[in-house]
Amino acid sequence: MRKKTRIAVLASGRGSNFEALSSACLEGGYPASIEILIADNSQAGAIAAAAARNIPSVTVDCGPKRGTMSDEASDRMARLCRERGIDLVCLAGFMRIVRGALLDAYAGKMLNIHPALLPSFKGLDGQHQALEYGVRYSGCTVHFVDKGVDTGPIIIQRVVPVRQDDTVESLSARILAEEHRAYPEAVRLYAERRLRIEGRRVIIDEET
Ligand code: GRF
Repeated sequence: MRKKTRIAVLASGRGSNFEALSSACLEGGYPASIEILIADNSQAGAIAAAAARNIPSVTVDCGPKRGTMSDEASDRMARLCRERGIDLVCLAGFMRIVRGALLDAYAGKMLNIHPALLPSFKGLDGQHQALEYGVRYSGCTVHFVDKGVDTGPIIIQRVVPVRQDDTVESLSARILAEEHRAYPEAVRLYAERRLRIEGRRVIIDEET
């Protein structure tokens, strides 16, 4: 049997995607395990969720500049991942653009989940942007992380209808339920080595 893919999850907030991933990892036969949670602030709800599951967590001060990380923080996170033999980094509501040593070390081995159908509505508040724009469908996207913001090759998208009476909250809740399915599914495909990147496209190989 192939060794399980060792995951580091990076989160800033609530942590529901962290929970969805960690629940999947507890299922028999799931090919991945979460070895560490890295948060950029000590208030992140994901930290309590990790503690409840006996998953170690570390808070890394990413510096004062919102939305990005200092070189020192990137170096430290890369070191933490290396020390734990991390194969895959999953961003789950991590509110900073990953750059530097961490991105270099995990190019092609880092995933993100975004609450919109990319390439529409990149960046912050994807649900709000979709509602304001008036689209009839939105959803979520799991993609590889590259140097841009929400621009990497797309692995999985799940679609939800936008209702006439939707608020940002109701639409976000409908999208979030799909996020919790899509992320574990994408991680499974990655861990089963079934994803190949060809240019912008991700080819999903058949199960063997
Ligand atoms: C999710 O909507 C995710 O798509 C976005 O940030 C939110 C994080 O939620 N990147 P949670 O912390 O996983 O509950």
